[in-house]
Amino acid sequence: MRKPLLSFFLLPLLIAVLVSAAGALDRQPNADYHARREALAKKANGVVVLFAPLEAPDEVYGFRQENNFFYLSGLSEPGSALLVAAAAESKSDSPARPYTEILFLPPRNMTQEKWTGPKLGPENPEAPQITGFDHVEEMGKLPDEVSRLIAGGRPAIYTDVASHDETSASTQPLAFLKRTSLALNFLDAKPMLSSLRTFKDAGEIGLLRKAVDASVAAHFAAFKAVKPNVNEHEIAALMEYEWDKRGCERPSYAPIVGSGYFSTVLHYSEDTNVMKAGDVVVIDAAGEYSMYAADITRTLPINGHFTARQREIYDIVLGAQEAAMAAFQSGKSSLTRSGDNSLFQVAYDYINSHGKDLHGQPLGQYFIHGLGHYLGLNVHDPGDYTVPLGPGAVFTIEPGIYIPEEKIGVRIEDDYLVDQDGKLIKLSGALPSKAEDVEKAMTGK
Ligand code: GLY
Ligand code: MN
Ligand code: MN
Repeated sequence: MRKPLLSFFLLPLLIAVLVSAAGALDRQPNADYHARREALAKKANGVVVLFAPLEAPDEVYGFRQENNFFYLSGLSEPGSALLVAAAAESKSDSPARPYTEILFLPPRNMTQEKWTGPKLGPENPEAPQITGFDHVEEMGKLPDEVSRLIAGGRPAIYTDVASHDETSASTQPLAFLKRTSLALNFLDAKPMLSSLRTFKDAGEIGLLRKAVDASVAAHFAAFKAVKPNVNEHEIAALMEYEWDKRGCERPSYAPIVGSGYFSTVLHYSEDTNVMKAGDVVVIDAAGEYSMYAADITRTLPINGHFTARQREIYDIVLGAQEAAMAAFQSGKSSLTRSGDNSLFQVAYDYINSHGKDLHGQPLGQYFIHGLGHYLGLNVHDPGDYTVPLGPGAVFTIEPGIYIPEEKIGVRIEDDYLVDQDGKLIKLSGALPSKAEDVEKAMTGK
C-alpha cells in the first residue's frame, strides 16, 4: 500500500517542490526531451556526455541551466550530467546494445540546500518518472557507465569540451571525467546540437511566442513612457517589470536603450543618459520566457514626432525589412551575407539604393551588422546557417542604419517563424512599426 500512496499523493507534491525550485519554468512534456536525446544519439557515432554547470555555494546571481543541457532534459538541476548512446547491432567483439540514456545526479547536500533550495537526489525512486530519463544514477557511477559503453567498441566521447575548457562552471566535472584511467577520444558535441536546434518543435514555438508576447507588451509600455528628460534607465527598468510580470524570468540580453549619439552604438547597454527632445532612441530589449529568448527593437522619436531627416532614414530601414520579408521563400532563403538567396543582400541593396548621407554617399556603409539570427534558448541561437530557412525556423530580421555624424541610429527588429506550410509569420507583428503608427502609439494622435 505504501507505493501507491507515494505515487498518488507525494509524487505531485515532490514535483511541485522541484518545479518551484527550478524557478517555475514552463516545461515541455518529458517525451519531447526524450525524442531530442534519441535524435542526438542517432547522429553521434559514439557516446555523448554533457554536464550541467555547478551551482556556486552562495549562488547570489541565480543559477541558469546550460542551454544544450536544458534542450536535452528540460531540467534545471545543477551539477548533473547526461549520457546517451545509440542502439548498436551485435559485432564479433561486442553484443547488441539498446539505445541507452542515463541522467547522473549529484548526491543531495542538505547544508547547501538551506541556501539554494531542495534538489532531486539520485536515490529518489521516482526520479526516472519525474525527469523522463530511462535511467537515473548517482554522479559517481559515470566513469563505470562510460567504460561499460566503450567496451562495446564506441571509443568517441562527444561532449561540449570547447565551452567547458573556457571558464564554464562545468570545468570541474569534465576534469573529473578526463582524470579517469580510460583512454578517451573527446569530440565536440556542439555542432550536432546546433544542427538539431535549428528547427524548433511545437513546444519550443509555444515558449518563444510567450517570450515575444511579453516583450511586445513591454515595448508598448515604453512607447508611452519615452519622453524628453526621462532617463534611459527608467525605460529599461519599466520594460523588465512588464515582461517579468508576464512570466519571464530575466532579460534575454542586456537591454539597450540608446538615445541621441548612443542610438548609433549597436550594443550600448549602460542606459544612463537623459533623453532629449529632437533625438531618437533605439530600444533593443526583450525578455526570456522559460529559457527561450525574444529579441525586439523599435526606434522612437523622443518627443513623439520624427524630424523629416529621421523619418527619411526610418522609412528606408523599414523598407529594407519589408523587402526582405517580401523576398522570403521557404526552403530557399538564408540569413547568410551572400549568395543568390541571401535576405541580407536584399536588405543591403534596398538601403544602398535609397537615400544618401550628408556627403552624397549611399547608405549601405551604415548598415554595419548582419540581417538576423536564429532565436531559441540563446538570443543568438547556434543553428545551422548553411541550410535554408524552412518550417520550424525562428529568427530575427533586423536591418539598421547608424550615422554617428547625424546622431541618428535606426534599427527595426522583429521575430519570425516559418510555419509548417512554409509561410513567414511575424511573431512580433502586434507591435507597430510604421512611423506614423509608432507616433500615434506614443502620443495617442
Ligand atoms: N539584441 C541583440 C541583437 O539584436 O542581436
Ligand atoms: Mn537580434
Ligand atoms: Mn536585438
